[in-house]
Parts: sequence; C-alpha cells; structure tokens
Amino acid sequence: METTPPNIVSVLDNLLHTFREYRQKGVVGFDCSEVARERVAQWHRPLVRTPETLETIREDIGDCRRCALCEQRHHIVFGAGNPNARLVFVGEGPGRDEDLQGEPFVGAAGELLTKIIQAIKFTRETVYICNIVKCRPPQNRNPLPDEIDTCLPFLKRQLGAIQPTCIVALGKVAAQTLLGTDQAISRLRGRFYDYHGIRLLPTYHPAYLLRSPEKKRDVWEDMKLLMREYDHAP
Ligand code: URA
Repeated sequence: METTPPNIVSVLDNLLHTFREYRQKGVVGFDCSEVARERVAQWHRPLVRTPETLETIREDIGDCRRCALCEQRHHIVFGAGNPNARLVFVGEGPGRDEDLQGEPFVGAAGELLTKIIQAIKFTRETVYICNIVKCRPPQNRNPLPDEIDTCLPFLKRQLGAIQPTCIVALGKVAAQTLLGTDQAISRLRGRFYDYHGIRLLPTYHPAYLLRSPEKKRDVWEDMKLLMREYDHAP
C-alpha cells in the first residue's frame, strides 16, 4: 500500500504548535548541553565498519565484571543468529531462561518473537538477535543507565561487524537507548528512524504483548512496514 507523503506545511505547523506548547508551559530554552549535542551528532554518524568479527568482540567481553550485573548472572547472553544478517532484533536484556541457557529470547517472550520472525518469512537462524545488556538484571528490572552505558559499546561493535540493513528495537529500553530519547514506545513505534545509517524500527516488546495481546495488531502493522522497507533497501 502506497502512503501519501506528508505535506511539509503541516509538518512545520505541527512543529510550531509543539514550540508554542513549550512556551505556554514556561519553557524558555532547550537542553543543548554537550551530552545532548553529542547525541544529536551521533544520529547520522555511520557506525564504524570494523574488520573485527563477532568472535573477537565476544573474546573482548571475556568473563565480564565491568558492572554489577555480573554478580548474579549465570551466563553472558552475547547474541545469536546470522553474523551477516540484514535484519537484527534488539531486546532489553536476558530474562531467567536466557540467563540459564546463555541464549537470547528463549523463554515465553522468545517463543512469541520466534513466531513474529516466522510470520515475516525469516527464521531465527537468518536474522541476528541480541540485547541492550548482556547479563540478566535481577528480578527482571530494567537495566540501569550505568549498566547500559557499560554494555552498549559492545552492542555497537556487534552492529558495526554485522552491518544490518534494518534493526527492530523491541520495547521501550531498546528503542529509547538506541535513539537517545525518553519518548514513550507508543509514540516511537510505527515508523523508521535513522540509526547511524541503518533503518531502525521501534515496536512493542514481545513480553508486553503477552500481557497486552490487543497490541499484537500494532506489531503486525510494524512488521508489514518492515517487510516493505526491507524489500526496497539496498
Ligand atoms: N527479553 C529481552 O528483552 N531479551 C531477552 O533475551 C529475553 C527476554
């Protein structure tokens, strides 16, 4: 299905409306700190294409003790699938089953992810599956900012080695981390973003779909969008 391109006048109108709303709320400026500017600068900066392999990145991680998540983990969950995949799924972090088996998305949420992958005519072996953090956060809590900051360079190196065409960010933590935003996943999903020259599509996390099955319809819309984009991507 062809979508009509949005009219630039209405896009700018929306932007103006947003700025007016900020002003009404008393906002007189924006956070343009060095950290914020660096995030914006990174949007279009290509990931460094490294000659390194996933094996060398895994070796670098070693028996990682770089953050507190190492204390309770059983296995580091590095990632699994095709090292040359054009499509990568990024989740949040290992849960109990993944921690015990050392493989990403092998529990109940993983079963649903496998079905989603099959519904778009891929298999777990043809795509690559990984997470924002590689060790299980206790009680499946969200990973903390310092845990994410410590682990993210390895994910970036993995993406640099794989060089996928499309990334699907599963859930709030993956989408917000990769896009450097705190916008809700319900607002982020449904469209592509540029992630260092790679097309990134945020969608709901399969664990959330298990709790809110009515959202499966939205994920299916996202997957149809993904298939269209993937088919036309170089
Ligand atoms: N949830 C995730 O985000 N990742 C996994 O690997 C499993 C469950």
